[in-house]
Amino acid sequence: MKNLVTLNNAYRLLNHGPTVLVTSAHDSQRNIMAAAWNMPLDFDPPKVAIVIDKNTHTRELMEASGSFAINVPCRAQAEMVVRVGNCSGRELLGKSPDNKLAAFDIPTFPAREISAPLIEGCVAWLECRIIPEPHIQNTYDLFVAEVVAAQADERVFTDDRWHFEGHDELRTVHHVAGGAFMSIGDAFKIGT
Ligand SMILES: Cc1cc2nc3c(=O)[nH]c(=O)nc-3n(C[C@H](O)[C@H](O)[C@H](O)COP(=O)(O)O)c2cc1C
Repeated sequence: MKNLVTLNNAYRLLNHGPTVLVTSAHDSQRNIMAAAWNMPLDFDPPKVAIVIDKNTHTRELMEASGSFAINVPCRAQAEMVVRVGNCSGRELLGKSPDNKLAAFDIPTFPAREISAPLIEGCVAWLECRIIPEPHIQNTYDLFVAEVVAAQADERVFTDDRWHFEGHDELRTVHHVAGGAFMSIGDAFKIGT
């Protein structure tokens, strides 16, 4: 038997790629938001695509700076992912603290190539420079970017492979909808 899936919810059939945290910075402003709609796009030069809504403060900082970081959070950070994805950094401007990173006490470290801060406790970090594509940005909220630096937590990523066994709290998180998440499951290999 097969269920018919409501078309509005068809995205949920694909939504369980890793949900990420997008960080951005411009002048003295820094920000963080959650983003489930992201994907790799090319090997060389490495590119990614990500959907960033027009109403977000993140988008303003991304467009002003031409860059952003994708931080890959883990299960231990899932609550923080939901928090930063449910409020806007814009609401904090002019207040104290004046950004979500400080308001939620989220530790960061400097990126290698861009101004956006990277989030401590994540398991991977991709520093991205936007490749301007005004039509798809305006029409679909879709940003294409080149990855200019990447790092990963060696406890769960070495020799270009993920290995989460023994590190359940470091498993990546995958948002389905409405606060329902899955964490990444067992690895398996097909011999060729
Ligand atoms: C789990 C989760 C996933 C989300 N995925 C996206 C996404 O892919 N693209 C997007 O534009 N907003 C997404 N959001 C919403 C933004 O994170 C949200 O609008 C945020 O408040 C924007 O913050 P800002 O205005 O400080 O940039 C997501 C929210 C959650 C909780």
